[in-house]
Amino acid sequence: MSIKEQITDILVDAIEKLGFEKEGLSVTFSNRPELCDYQSNFAMILAKKVGQKPIELAEKIVEQTKNDQNFEFFAVLPGFINIKIKDSTLSQFCKDTFLDKNLGVKQVEKPRLVFFDYGGANVAKELHVGHLRSPIVGEALKRLHLVLGDKTLADVHLGDYGLQMGLTLLQLKEDGFLDKFFEKTEKNADFSNISLENVTLDVLNDEYPKASKRKEEDTEFKQQADLFTLYIQQKKEPYFTIYKKIRQLSVSEIQKNYALLNCGFDFYLGESDAESYIDQTVKIFVDKHLARESEGALVVDVAREGEHVPIPKKSEDEPQRYKNPMPPAIIKKYNGGDLYATTDIATILMRNKDYMPDEIVYVTDNRQGQHFEQVFRCCKMAGLSPENQKLTHIAFGTMNGQDGKPFKTRSGGVVRLKEVVGLLIDKASEKLSANGIVGDSELARKIGVAAMKFGDLSNTVEKDYVFDIDKFLSFDGKTGPYIQYTIARINSILTKANFEKNVQKCGKNCSFLIQTKEERNIALAILKLISAYQVCYDAYSLNALCTAVFDLASAFSTFYNNQKILSEPNEEKRHQLLCLCLLVKACLEKALWTLGIDSVEKM
Ligand code: ARG
Repeated sequence: MSIKEQITDILVDAIEKLGFEKEGLSVTFSNRPELCDYQSNFAMILAKKVGQKPIELAEKIVEQTKNDQNFEFFAVLPGFINIKIKDSTLSQFCKDTFLDKNLGVKQVEKPRLVFFDYGGANVAKELHVGHLRSPIVGEALKRLHLVLGDKTLADVHLGDYGLQMGLTLLQLKEDGFLDKFFEKTEKNADFSNISLENVTLDVLNDEYPKASKRKEEDTEFKQQADLFTLYIQQKKEPYFTIYKKIRQLSVSEIQKNYALLNCGFDFYLGESDAESYIDQTVKIFVDKHLARESEGALVVDVAREGEHVPIPKKSEDEPQRYKNPMPPAIIKKYNGGDLYATTDIATILMRNKDYMPDEIVYVTDNRQGQHFEQVFRCCKMAGLSPENQKLTHIAFGTMNGQDGKPFKTRSGGVVRLKEVVGLLIDKASEKLSANGIVGDSELARKIGVAAMKFGDLSNTVEKDYVFDIDKFLSFDGKTGPYIQYTIARINSILTKANFEKNVQKCGKNCSFLIQTKEERNIALAILKLISAYQVCYDAYSLNALCTAVFDLASAFSTFYNNQKILSEPNEEKRHQLLCLCLLVKACLEKALWTLGIDSVEKM
């Protein structure tokens, strides 16, 4: 039972003994840590109900708890109940945490299968800073679910079926890169042996932006690109073979980028993988009279009653539908092509056929809110997603530059993802050299990525934030590198003491004796860190974990500065101190792992 549950049980007992209802009882961490560790305002709530003075009620409740072995309860004006955890209880808590295979992190009662859809890079378009948040947030949310005992699956869901493919192909064709493919005119020609030899990643990175700009000015070009997109979707040759080759080239680059960021996916699927489910998906909407034709396209009215205007029914068995403010979802284009909504709906059908997850979580920027609302409504209306399946869109804010506007290069251009990561790694390298560590590029990567991820995840997900490289990379302060540094410091202590570095291996040999203020603060910080996991799980945001892991690292620094560890003369006490160091290290490492950040041995 957790400390909070124990305290709650004691209070419930006391309240019931006094003949009151426990309704409204809550116990929270104290907001005056200098006075107590936990607090409850229950007596104030009860006072209103029973018409007695809060302080008198608080005193009566506290009276009942007088002989408790583990906690001390105090009544304070105007009617708070303050709770202090006894040192012996904290010592036992440290030991229990140390010996628990989940390091005290409470597991969900009913593990679920949660499917994560994040990353979402678009094939043929180069990754830029705008693509950083989805893998950072998505990977951390997935790991958080794993840590709490859920099962997870993760799909990168590449954008590989849309207009950008047609645009790129058309531009490549016009620039003469595809002549060999289009020279072959005979029926059933084989294109698989023709290589895209001159089409490198650099070429792709030039061609797509060129085409994208052109489509804005040149309607004929846009229509042609629409047609090329349709050909790809219809698997027409040579379009389809060229498309597959471009995809392959691009995906290997995307994989490298995500690996650099510690993102691991179970599936490298894309929009196009739902292709074989599209016809049945569309048929379901038509058969259930959920789709209607509009200007040559096929649309699904997803607006709900009360939201807007009813659309007159054409026949009796048609369900009543409504217009606006939620516009209809378009599932077939005027030319028969498929859209973003179509592939997303078909992908849900596919995922449910294969896995039927309890929840699907999508992590994208907040401009896609309407898209997902439409997709979710479509799936629920058509019964493609069962009622008890949760569909969640986590919409994150923008990563801004120091000027508060979306992060750009000096000249106002888009910053490539590789450039930002490269810059972080270079700066981390410089800092390491200053500390006498030269030429360890993998260490520099771990620190650079930690800086970026921690800087991102310490904000609530929906908020915009300012990307401040120097601040994020500081080895001191609320940063990823500071946590890594604390771990490295502990490693060095353990090495010097020739002490075990692995909690599991140390196991039953552990012993804890919490006595000083510094030791208490560490134990309390661990307690808070453990409870932050649940807070983050409920909020789909990692900021509380970042705060709690930072507080633990700070508590450790104070302890380290004020208390002798290696030079402690008493053998038993020294062992206890080293166990505490090892416990802190394990807790910090677990939190970093959850955030998708590597721990380091030294730095
Ligand atoms: N490719 C999309 C984009 O760049 C993100 C994909 C998100 N996932 C999804 N199932 N729609 O915006």
